[in-house]
Amino acid sequence: MSADLRPGDGDGTRCVYAGLPEPVPGEPFLPGPVLAAPYHLDPWQGPAASPNGYGRPDNPTRRRLEAAIGELEGGDCLAFATGQAAVTALLLTVLHSGDTVLLPADGYFAVRAFAAQTLEPIGVRVRYAPTAGPYPSFEGVRLLLLETPANPGLDVADVAALAAAAHGAGALVAVDNTTATPLGQRPLDLGADLVVASGTKALSGHSDLLLGYVATRDADLLDALRVWRASTGAVPGAFDAWLAHRSLATLDLRLARQSANAAAVTGLLLARPDVQGVRWPGRPDDPAYPVASTQMRRFPGIVSFDLGTAERVGRFLTAARLVAAATSFGGLHTSADRRAQWGDDTSPGFVRLSCGVEDTVDLLADLTAALDATVD
Ligand SMILES: Cc1ncc(COP(=O)(O)O)c(C=O)c1O
Repeated sequence: MSADLRPGDGDGTRCVYAGLPEPVPGEPFLPGPVLAAPYHLDPWQGPAASPNGYGRPDNPTRRRLEAAIGELEGGDCLAFATGQAAVTALLLTVLHSGDTVLLPADGYFAVRAFAAQTLEPIGVRVRYAPTAGPYPSFEGVRLLLLETPANPGLDVADVAALAAAAHGAGALVAVDNTTATPLGQRPLDLGADLVVASGTKALSGHSDLLLGYVATRDADLLDALRVWRASTGAVPGAFDAWLAHRSLATLDLRLARQSANAAAVTGLLLARPDVQGVRWPGRPDDPAYPVASTQMRRFPGIVSFDLGTAERVGRFLTAARLVAAATSFGGLHTSADRRAQWGDDTSPGFVRLSCGVEDTVDLLADLTAALDATVD
């Protein structure tokens, strides 16, 4: 065995081998987590003698995970404690007083809250555009942040076209790749300067850890973000980094089942007159499909729809056996979240359903029974 990946290797192979060390007889495939705050230092040379001096900037388990994610994204990666730590690190590293940032109007709500609570008070001008457009002129914009597919509405932005236009006006472009994962799309290949994402979702996929990352091919941006991370301390712990790396090996398999389940669930929902507003970017008649099908390598396991009222969503979640009432998405277990309860600007009956890896036939039967139970 050799841990070297080749250019033509498929997604499954890349996920299994990404970030693994070269095989050493007697050693494990993926070495266990290095749980260390300080490391032994060379008494004379100090930290110069080893890549590991202190746990905040240095951890070999975290570096292996970063190598793995970087391999999949096609850039250099820095792991953060959470997705929100990664997004805010990016925003505060790149933006200064007087700069203008263009954020998705329909993206993850905590980013808008951060912009209002922290960016605006320090003099950053915050503008919003809907993910599906129209976009304003990028003149004077320092950073364009896209989130595609957007959480929770699942609209899609044309990364290549927007990156070209934004670069023409001198703006940096970052893409939140949480929903798609690097197997769903590679924003750096599409022209983005930076990828930012929550690894809490499908990337790690087991609903047992929080993680974030930034990936880029720009050495200066990488350095600035590394300094920011070391000085703010927003690092993931070694055990979480190890768990995430272990989980990454099955990303291809998990996404395949989640996506197949989402396709089947979308069909089921669209056939029901009592369900409105069904969205899944992988469906040819979805408004997001024309762009999604050209820039995405596969479609996510997330579907959104509207059951009309909060009360009906409650009845649906109570009746379902295989749908956990939970926020987050991308996990092994199918889960559903009524987004208005978190402050998202969605209607009261709007549901984001994250398809898990259950058997499709079981999931369809359960969803049918649970929806039937909500109709008087
Ligand atoms: C698109 C997107 N970006 C960022 C985040 C923040 O990630 P985390 O919860 O890991 O901080 C989320 C969380 O739901 C998200 O959906």
